[in-house]
Amino acid sequence: VTRTKIPEGLQPLPGPKPLPLIGNVLELGRNPHLSLTAMSKHYGPVFQIQIGTRPVAVLGGIEVVRQALIKQGEEFSGRPDLYSFSFINDGKSLAFSTDQAGVWRTRRKLAQSALRSFAIIEGQSAEYSCSLEEHISKEGLYLIERLHNVMETNGGFDPFRHIVVSVANVICGICFGRRYNHDDRELLNLVNMSDEFNQVAGSGNPADFIPFLRLLPSTSMKKFVDINRRFNVFIHKIVREHYDTYDKDNIRDITDSLIDHCEDRKLDENSNLQVSDEKIVGIVNDLFGAGFDTISTALSWSVVYLVAYPEIQERLHEELKENVGMDRTPHLVDKPNLIYLEAFILEIFRHSSFLPFTIPHCTTKNTSLNGYFIPKDTCVFINQWQTNHDPELWKEPSLFNPDRFLSADGTELNKMEGEKVMLFGLGKRRCVGEVIARSEVFLFLAILIQRLKFSSMPGQIPDMTPEYGLTMKHKRCLLRCTARPGFESPGT
Ligand code: HEM
Repeated sequence: VTRTKIPEGLQPLPGPKPLPLIGNVLELGRNPHLSLTAMSKHYGPVFQIQIGTRPVAVLGGIEVVRQALIKQGEEFSGRPDLYSFSFINDGKSLAFSTDQAGVWRTRRKLAQSALRSFAIIEGQSAEYSCSLEEHISKEGLYLIERLHNVMETNGGFDPFRHIVVSVANVICGICFGRRYNHDDRELLNLVNMSDEFNQVAGSGNPADFIPFLRLLPSTSMKKFVDINRRFNVFIHKIVREHYDTYDKDNIRDITDSLIDHCEDRKLDENSNLQVSDEKIVGIVNDLFGAGFDTISTALSWSVVYLVAYPEIQERLHEELKENVGMDRTPHLVDKPNLIYLEAFILEIFRHSSFLPFTIPHCTTKNTSLNGYFIPKDTCVFINQWQTNHDPELWKEPSLFNPDRFLSADGTELNKMEGEKVMLFGLGKRRCVGEVIARSEVFLFLAILIQRLKFSSMPGQIPDMTPEYGLTMKHKRCLLRCTARPGFESPGT
């Protein structure tokens, strides 16, 4: 290991003493978000651990996180070359690959503009404000019908299993112009096997840092490679169908628009084709992958919290009854009138912190933070869980209490408090799907809470211990739901 000389006036990062070969892997344990939060109490808001022989800077205080990701954004905007990332989207992922800054920026802008055009821009229909709203409303009602049927035949339902199909259909509609039946084997196999993906891709997986571990017959790594392969095959097939039926006068969805971008560029004599067609059209792979698992996880947690806090569920239903009524489905424009629901969602994001770390970052040059030297190419973990549970920022952080986001008289949302919740990252790598994600969580929940009442199975309290990973999930469980008065027959 070559060590860069520390410039005068700067200190090396503090941190626990590493063991030979494995570094601090044992201290990381099974819940790195908790163990690194505990270490931060000892070493401060920025410190260093070693995984294998590779140093990793860990940022956990909101001030240093802001300083690094916003004020020194450029220097902290890289991605590390981790072993597991090389399998995601064939190593060509927008979110996980080590693309040069220029290539990444071009792709990111394309992703943002595609999402704007095909999800958020006002639609032509009188009924829906935008295409995203249309997809969510329809899938929300299909989901309710589905849950009715499952309840009738099984007497209970597994929330993640059904929610994930609805959420996948929304992003499929936007990216590929199609939806799948709730019984479609191809889609079910794909979206219901994300557990291993999340375990392997979570921050601090030792196999990413310690080469000899890759030689062990690890089943989770094998499954991870297999999931990525199947995922790529699924997308490749859809993309090929789009190329075969592409018509530049009829751009149907995001895939078409990315193909169109490649075609336009070839006609433009001034364009320097530095980003390959594959990397441009491959953006849909990232959008689809990032778009279904995160939102399904958020919604599945929400339903479990509703069950765990029945009085909160009743208050949410009352708010809907009062401000939307029971004669029509909720819309996105109802948001300002459903402040308790907004507060509930913020508290789900904060309390569960189901994305405990951002995707790992990497320094793009030698830099410093709080007087500590951080060399170029250092892997950086951003502990979102820690900022969301920091007792300096939150009163009784372990308490689940949506009211913390409302004014004292309960009539207004406290926007400043809401902005303290960190779940989408910050700065240059901040999530490009945030607007879509927030709208989707809001509208799906409003539709579900208006029509259904959720409860636990007799004698079975859901286990709310999160399972660590890139996204943390609750354990799979069975729940019950019943129709609210007026919504007894599905599809009304
Ligand atoms: C990146 C959170 C939904 C697309 C990220 C990051 C986080 C995040 C923490 C990494 C930020 C960083 O590295 O600093 C979430 C959460 C979601 C969500 C909590 C849902 C509740 C979505 C959706 C899409 C999306 C719906 C697409 C439609 C992306 C992409 C990146 C990303 C493409 C990579 C950005 C880059 O590396 O430049 N997201 N996300 N996300 N997200 Fe999301």
